[in-house]
Amino acid sequence: MASAEESKRWVRMMTAQTPTNIAVIKYWGKRDETLILPVNDSISVTLDPDHLCTTTTVAVSPSFEEDRMWLNGKEISLSGGRFQSCLREIRRRAGDVEDREKGLRIGKSDWEKLHLHIASFNNFPTAAGLASSAAGFACLVFALAKLMNAKEDQSQLSAIARQGSGSACRSLFGGFVKWIMGNDKDGSDSLAVQLAHDKHWDDLVIIIAVVSSRQKETSSTSGMRESVETSLLLQHRVKEVVPKRIVQMEEAIKNHDFASFAQLTCADSNQFHAVCLDTCPPIFYMNDTSHRIINCVEKWNRLEGTPQVAYTFDAGPNAVLISRDRKAAVQLLQRLLFYFPPNSDTDLNSYVIGDKSILKDA
Ligand code: DP6
Repeated sequence: MASAEESKRWVRMMTAQTPTNIAVIKYWGKRDETLILPVNDSISVTLDPDHLCTTTTVAVSPSFEEDRMWLNGKEISLSGGRFQSCLREIRRRAGDVEDREKGLRIGKSDWEKLHLHIASFNNFPTAAGLASSAAGFACLVFALAKLMNAKEDQSQLSAIARQGSGSACRSLFGGFVKWIMGNDKDGSDSLAVQLAHDKHWDDLVIIIAVVSSRQKETSSTSGMRESVETSLLLQHRVKEVVPKRIVQMEEAIKNHDFASFAQLTCADSNQFHAVCLDTCPPIFYMNDTSHRIINCVEKWNRLEGTPQVAYTFDAGPNAVLISRDRKAAVQLLQRLLFYFPPNSDTDLNSYVIGDKSILKDA
């Protein structure tokens, strides 16, 4: 029989990797802050997992005395409500685990007593408007569900990741994803569904122009709270604009209709930033370089007569540029390099190209 010390020696680990996603119809505003229930549906594209992703290892052992987490090598507190909600929801759904090699059996009820160690790495700047929390919470929930043998489908897991960060629910799927806002008070129908798999519309190429990798001054969470409290434009957007755009965007994605896709993506990004300006006090996520990138794309699209590139900006100045195909992506890069040459006095410091992917800082 194993001694008490020996029986404490095992560690069970699981590692997962999750890409970030970029919304083409934005989520901005919550109707329930604790459960993270949004005021509108949103649609996103999940990036290639090779870039802009989070890698998370979760470990459990009877020798761990408390839950602990490290982000990019630095220990962070797990006391926040969002982490606790995700941990609680996964623990609640945990199943039996049997590891014959280790001679190990963890029963459902053991998970309440066992502690976790979590190590997470982002391969891109954290909290710089590149949706780091989206990849982070999606990866955490996915890894924990595997570790604890929680038999939930991806949509049900997305409803748990949503309680970590709203946009995280969309990173549980590849391809094009819709976050359905739902109606239930408990949030059980506020979850993500895949609209199209990751090979759908493979011509698209995404380039991220990293204007700044500094942390943003106003977090998405507090920014959207202030918008909900003060912006009349947000109310109009939620009732009159987004429902129609969601239908049109789903059609555009299904039909590979780049002209509609680009028009909707740019318009929605611009309206989101208009809502930020309509917030009291106003929030400025974009800067002069962001505005110059918009001008550059708009002029080029008009010159061509049909859109070559769509732009969208989240809660930061970095531009996400979606080109219709490789040819357009090469031309876009040439234009960006011409207007924003390396080592010039613009604060645009790098752009990298990939298949529905990208990166990163010079
Ligand atoms: C502008 O998901 O970061 O990127 O739910 O408070 O964690 P919380 O906010 P978060 O907000 C993302 C806002 C956005 C638009 C989007 O991704 O849809």
